Amino acid sequence: KREFDKKILCIGAGYVGGPTMAVIAHKCPQYKVTIVDINANRIAQWNSDKLPIYEPGLDDVVKAARGKNLFFDTDVKKGIEESDIIFVSVNTPTKTFGAGAGMAADLQYWEKTAREIREYSQSPKIIVEKSTLPVKTAQAMKRILMAGDNPGQFEVLSNPEFLAEGTAISDLENPDRVLIGSMETKSGLKARQELVDVYKNWVPENKIITTNLWSSELSKLVSNAFLAQKISSINAISALCEKTDANISEVAGAVGMDSRLGNKFLNASVGFGGSCFKKDILNLVYLCRYYGLDTVADYWEGVLKINDYQKERFVMNMLGNMFNTLAGKKICILGFAFKANTGDTRESPAIYVARRLLEERAVVNISDPQALENAENDLKDAEGSIFFIKNPYEAAKGCDAIAVMTEWDIYKSLDYENIYKSMSKPAFLFDGRNILHHNKMYEIGFNVFPIGKASLTHFSNE
Ligand code: UDX
Ligand code: UDX
Ligand code: ADP
Repeated sequence: KREFDKKILCIGAGYVGGPTMAVIAHKCPQYKVTIVDINANRIAQWNSDKLPIYEPGLDDVVKAARGKNLFFDTDVKKGIEESDIIFVSVNTPTKTFGAGAGMAADLQYWEKTAREIREYSQSPKIIVEKSTLPVKTAQAMKRILMAGDNPGQFEVLSNPEFLAEGTAISDLENPDRVLIGSMETKSGLKARQELVDVYKNWVPENKIITTNLWSSELSKLVSNAFLAQKISSINAISALCEKTDANISEVAGAVGMDSRLGNKFLNASVGFGGSCFKKDILNLVYLCRYYGLDTVADYWEGVLKINDYQKERFVMNMLGNMFNTLAGKKICILGFAFKANTGDTRESPAIYVARRLLEERAVVNISDPQALENAENDLKDAEGSIFFIKNPYEAAKGCDAIAVMTEWDIYKSLDYENIYKSMSKPAFLFDGRNILHHNKMYEIGFNVFPIGKASLTHFSNE
């Protein structure tokens, strides 16, 4: 039986835990990496040929390491007993009940995990927070771990994950930085070094940065808040561009060339989605209010307000331009994932738009290459006529309008001449991602409504 240098466990086999551990295992054959989850179905999927999440490059990494030094299991107890380092990557959704509902993080899964670790541990362990958590969670975790008659030896580290979905594997293999926070005590620094040594197997040392625990936890929230703020900033300006002769792509291009600002994350859209941005900003806002910093809280809340406004504005634009009635009209939603190259639909703007269109009594055809299963689940309680159709040509057939919600590459090169022919006239195209060639679409015959640019319609002003 082969012996490993270290035994690493990850609790929670989701979008973060799965890819992160797969890359650690792939890069470090000398470690045994086990991922456990209470969801047996999910574990079975991780052990099958059809992984539970779609992520470019993930299949190869998992196949290369699975069964050698990467294992997916449901036995949480055994996993905890035998491990040296435990990553905690369970879900931390926004609370839906009680104090802080709709704002604070729901820590019940996370606290349950802390208690399990305490119960099953018989040797010293390093506990690593991977899930996004409110600041000072590490302290709470340490208190839970140390409570009771026979406190074990635990050191809690914060190691927030910065991967973005759709590029998870390359983000993990080649990160901008790895951040590790610890207590600045002797044992804290020793544990920190142990985790640095894990990452050093493939990440250049100058990209591994260490801070105190609270800075690390806060940096994760702030990184996501800044990224989201950049999108809300450009989306806010897109509204102004639609009222003037300015073009959002030209403005973003000019603004982004300032090296102090940077040209990334300046694509105006129907709004940002994903499991992190909203949740983390709500966390940040909750934290600020808790400490009496209301002006700071209001500032960050504005980022979310603009995002909600952008989604609603998109729907109102559709309604207004389609003669103020959508009842009975057929609308094709192209893309339901919150961004391209993922099947994830959490907080996807498409959910909001689809629900609003259904409220207006439109018939909604939803298409997506990877996210239809999630889409059906997201809309299972929605009333009205909804159809889930993978083939985009089928989905658009007979429709009055197309709304592009996700920037999938395949949507850039569809045969729009044929799509146009198959649609009801006048045919409308609302490009919520600005990925299509708008002049060309106009020439084909569509009435085109981009984000932050003049619309192109065949209607005369009489
Ligand atoms: C984000 C952070 O990027 C990542 O570092 C963190 O670890 C988790 O949260 P993710 O949510 O997976 O990652 O995707 P991201 O690429 O950040 O996109 C978030 C949303 O913003 C998507 O809906 C995307 O379409 C939208 N977006 C992004 C824009 O609307 N415009 C842009 O210019 C960029
Ligand atoms: C600014 C723009 O930078 C410049 O492109 C434009 O043409 C004119 O306005 P200026 O006001 O001269 O230039 O200086 P700038 O370096 O932008 O600083 C503006 C203020 O922001 C200063 O008070 C500066 O101290 C402050 N600042 C800047 C910060 O407080 N923190 C920073 O990180 C950067
Ligand atoms: P993230 O995007 O943060 O990775 P996910 O929801 O995709 O979040 O994944 C979190 C995973 O954690 C889920 O598969 C869930 O079943 C698992 N989980 C939650 N609580 C526990 C627990 N106490 N023990 C093991 N796994 C857990």
